Amino acid sequence: MAKAASVEFIGVEKKYGQVTAVRDVSFRVEAGTLVTLLGPSGCGKTTTLRLVAGLELATGGKIMIGDQDVTALGAAERDVSMVFQSYALFPHMSVVENVMYGPLASGASRKEAEAMAREKLALIGLSGFEKRLPSELSGGQQQRVAVARAIVLEPSVLLFDEPLSNLDAKLRRKVRDDIRDLQQRLGLTVLYVTHDQQEALAVSDKVIVMDNAVIAQEGTPADLYERPRTRFLADFIGEANIVEGRFGADAGGVTFAAGSTSFGLGDIPVPEGASAVALRPDRIQLTLDPAGAFTIHRVAYVGHAREYLVTAPWGEMLVIRPLRERAIAAGTRVSLEIDLGAAIAISG
Ligand SMILES: Nc1ncnc2c1ncn2[C@@H]1O[C@H](COP(=O)(O)OP(=O)(O)O)[C@@H](O)[C@H]1O
Ligand SMILES: [Mg+2]
Repeated sequence: MAKAASVEFIGVEKKYGQVTAVRDVSFRVEAGTLVTLLGPSGCGKTTTLRLVAGLELATGGKIMIGDQDVTALGAAERDVSMVFQSYALFPHMSVVENVMYGPLASGASRKEAEAMAREKLALIGLSGFEKRLPSELSGGQQQRVAVARAIVLEPSVLLFDEPLSNLDAKLRRKVRDDIRDLQQRLGLTVLYVTHDQQEALAVSDKVIVMDNAVIAQEGTPADLYERPRTRFLADFIGEANIVEGRFGADAGGVTFAAGSTSFGLGDIPVPEGASAVALRPDRIQLTLDPAGAFTIHRVAYVGHAREYLVTAPWGEMLVIRPLRERAIAAGTRVSLEIDLGAAIAISG
């Protein structure tokens, strides 16, 4: 599949009557990469995918696929296919007939269509299942048939809308890894939608976080986790303690005053308008300290770690420590040390 194409949105808008589902959205998906649209329900992810597919037309802006302006083209005129949440397989057709449907509809002979279908089913690990009906397959296998059907015509862009939502938790990781593997092996351009941040971090070359019809931030998974710009992002990607306060400076670098305490954060970037820090729970150390300003409120053993709810002068915070460290009992006074560079200055 050598014809994978890039996708570019330039100031795209989609209104449904009074509702603006997508507002001034610009991004680029490089050919052969997997980019995820991540965000809470209702933020505009599905609308964005449907705009790429041509199932909706933009009410403003421009959409490019490769070097073609497709803004005004309908779905049939775009070389894009989509895998839906509900696999939408034909229940009365066998697996191979489901996959042959596209090639037949576009004029291939039965023989050609069957060869194309068998090749894609083999690619996705479903050889031997050709004659079964969808009802005779597990959810994960049905999902793979849907993927085979979507790639059988070798589209230049492949879209996934929450493809794992009908699978149980164990299978989700497997199918997710299979999709990523297939995308990399075939060099496909994939735009992938999910509301699950772990899934997004695990599969993506780039993640675009949407909030309320606009792009909140985009970057590699590591960028977003290490450098979220806002409270929404710090909270949405991974866990974070958000502490309100005032930034200052001394000889040691940035200082931060919160409640009745103040601490040094080292040499971290503080953007204009920053009003809080986000502290990742696993980047905070606890030290026994009878004069400390913090108290362990609760300890929970969670299998791979211990989770501490710590009472701080500004409220409660979550701290996660590895099991190899000695447990600290509830009621104990401690002081905190934040790992160097681990505090993230955020705004709004
Ligand atoms: N066909 C439609 N008519 C009117 N409003 C719509 C339509 N499709 C989506 N919306 C609205 O657009 C917003 C974004 O929806 P959607 O793209 O489906 O979000 P997501 O996939 O992120 O959950 C929501 O407020 C939704 O109610
Ligand atoms: Mg959706």
